[in-house]
Amino acid sequence: MAIPSVSLAILLLALRFLLAWDPRATTVTAIRSGGLPQKAGAAGSGASDRPECNGRWIYIRELPSRFNTDLLATCDDFPILFEIREQPEKSIIPFLANHGLGPRTHNRSRSWYRTEPLFLELFFHRRMLEYPCLTADPVAADAIFVPYYTGLAALPFLYSPAQWNFSALHGRDLAKWLIRRDRPAIWSRFGGHDHFLAVAGFASDFDNDPAQTPLWGTAFLGLPEFYNLTVFTLESRAWSLQEHAVPPPTSFHPANLARLDAWLARARRSRRSTLMLFAGGAAPGSGRPNVVSSIHAECELRRDLCELVDCSGGVCIHDPARFMRPMLRARFCLQPPGETPTRRSTFDGILAGCIPVFFEEASAASQFGWHLPRRRYDEFSVLIPKEEVMFGGQRIADVLEAIPPARVRRMREAVLELAPGVMYRRHGSSAALRARKDAIDLAIEGALRRIQRRVRAMQQGKDALLLVGDNEEEWDE
Ligand SMILES: *[C@@H]1O[C@H](CO)[C@@H](O)[C@H](O)[C@H]1NC(C)=O
Ligand SMILES: *[C@@H]1O[C@H](CO)[C@@H](O)[C@H](O)[C@H]1NC(C)=O
Ligand SMILES: *[C@@H]1O[C@H](CO)[C@@H](O)[C@H](O)[C@H]1NC(C)=O
Repeated sequence: MAIPSVSLAILLLALRFLLAWDPRATTVTAIRSGGLPQKAGAAGSGASDRPECNGRWIYIRELPSRFNTDLLATCDDFPILFEIREQPEKSIIPFLANHGLGPRTHNRSRSWYRTEPLFLELFFHRRMLEYPCLTADPVAADAIFVPYYTGLAALPFLYSPAQWNFSALHGRDLAKWLIRRDRPAIWSRFGGHDHFLAVAGFASDFDNDPAQTPLWGTAFLGLPEFYNLTVFTLESRAWSLQEHAVPPPTSFHPANLARLDAWLARARRSRRSTLMLFAGGAAPGSGRPNVVSSIHAECELRRDLCELVDCSGGVCIHDPARFMRPMLRARFCLQPPGETPTRRSTFDGILAGCIPVFFEEASAASQFGWHLPRRRYDEFSVLIPKEEVMFGGQRIADVLEAIPPARVRRMREAVLELAPGVMYRRHGSSAALRARKDAIDLAIEGALRRIQRRVRAMQQGKDALLLVGDNEEEWDE
């Protein structure tokens, strides 16, 4: 009974791909051949026959295609996006291949893709379609997934000057659909506290006050209608309301356990002749003291200890070989805050077994609790407060060289233990790989825990909103 709804979703997805545009041939082929959830019971109708799904049933809300796949056809219409990113390619359409994982890095590559972070919502959706505990009955569901492509829907409001004054409209149509138009009982059961969705972006870009006309951003998370949602973002705010940060997607998407293990073995064996590495753009040219400038200055002086990978001009975003090879040679990867506190490079580095060096708590410890346990930071990372580097004359290399080799080895081992949980495996992966939790599995588990606490509070007559902003799941494990 559940299966028709799942196949319908897939069919719709395939149809949109077929009708809308071209890159499309490969994507359609991939959709048709890519291990879709057809096995019996993939979407069981009752909890009783699937004990492993107790407390984990998810219902996918049915949305008109204007909320998701239609947006793929127009995602190239915003030249300002490419300007801001200094991206050499003036199109993101080619990165739609493989359900949003992007094209493979080269013909013989099996696990490495040119992944465009904006398509997180697409491949998240694709992965939800193969989630083992889908139900066709919203009443039986423990949580409800909304396959809205939030970041893509925001593109006009962010990158089309004619739309800037209307950014408070982002999400209003969706709110109407979810709360009033499409079977209102699904939402009203728990006031939306059981709904979750993915946002391929930073929460701070979506939290405007809907009553203001701001210079930048949209009001999606600022809409009172959406206060109760649980939202995955690539970066959370200092005081998060709906969101929890998930790792930005890296380029590594293995399809079976042998490939994951082979990569981890390579990272483990790799000879690390460089003490430290920084992969990133130039320091912001404001002239103000800045930890990125301090890193550049120290690296220029100590080329024997430090490798700089120049990512300016947007050259790294779709080209993992540029930084992954150097990361395999480095013991420590420097992850300073840039325009915003977090860096995708932290997660590339973790995959490479390169120990992250943070310069402020906001860069990770206060962000990714579902994926990088807060109380283990000392085991797998180094924190050097940026003030000590910028104003205290602290040399980074001195701190890192003082760490005994045995401890460095233990830290690297801890980093590689975390690696499987921050990567996004390919859809349609082997059963053995699916048994390991990846970034999406951990995000879903986190959302289910949070939703369960809220729903319980409501059932006890308490206001679930009192729990909003809570992330204590990271501590009480
Ligand atoms: C990859 O394969 C395609 C088609 O088989 C071919 O056209 C292309 O030249 C190959 N690229 C490389 C770098 O070998
Ligand atoms: C946006 O609003 C500002 C201030 O009200 C106005 O000056 C500007 O012309 C508007 N832009 C567009 C494209 O409507
Ligand atoms: C959000 O939850 C609160 C209770 O926690 C409820 O009063 C409110 O109506 C909900 N909001 C929406 C839009 O359903």
